[in-house]
Amino acid sequence: MRRKLVAGNWKMNGSLAALAELDGIAAAAAAYPGVDVAVAVPATLIAPAHARAPGLAIGAEDIHPAPSGAHTGCLSAAMVAEAGATFTIVGHSERRIEQRESGQDVWAKAEAGHRGGLGVILCLGETDVERASGRAERVVSSQLERALPGDATGDWLTIAYEPRWAIGTGLTPTPGDVQAIHGAVRAKMVDLLGDAGHAIRILYGGSVTGENAARMFALPDVDGALVGGASLTAAKFVPIIAAAAGL
Ligand code: PGA
Repeated sequence: MRRKLVAGNWKMNGSLAALAELDGIAAAAAAYPGVDVAVAVPATLIAPAHARAPGLAIGAEDIHPAPSGAHTGCLSAAMVAEAGATFTIVGHSERRIEQRESGQDVWAKAEAGHRGGLGVILCLGETDVERASGRAERVVSSQLERALPGDATGDWLTIAYEPRWAIGTGLTPTPGDVQAIHGAVRAKMVDLLGDAGHAIRILYGGSVTGENAARMFALPDVDGALVGGASLTAAKFVPIIAAAAGL
């Protein structure tokens, strides 16, 4: 049985003052022990977030693949772990677009996260043009094949399917479309990793709210959500956690 995971992604939002939101999120995490709750925050907020909510899984939004070296402005897995992160996101579409990260980069970051003792949330997702031309499943499957570490297990890896056109737009795929992609991702992981592929969680991401979360969580291969905008306040994030708990 895969436990549900509800993970927030604050992106380039938040401040020391905004960490007050973590109080309500941590309280919900404690109130629903059957659900795993995590929040990825800007790197400057990892240490204070961890100090404010020590019981909550705090993560990084990205890491560099190298353990150290001449990479101005970058952070290694060990650095974010020292600050209190227990996981990192890799391959978010905003980084694939803005920083031109390739599938190979994403693979290397996933490996580096694992080597550094972090959990890894690896993001995949098609564009609107790819979906409109009937290529969504093929695109996501090939992104997975490129970035999936060969030694991945459910103990440290989570996949997030986030159609690019659904991020921050208020648009979501139909439940049938979500399950079709999640089912294909599951089948591909089992193909590549054997039984370990059954234990790796697949989150849905893209305009998840308290209103639509339960519909997504009811699908057989949706093991939780990666939430952007609605993770910024406890008022919006807690109902998603409650939906994962089946309430
Ligand atoms: P959104 O972002 O929930 O604001 O659509 C999701 C994400 O990019 O992780």
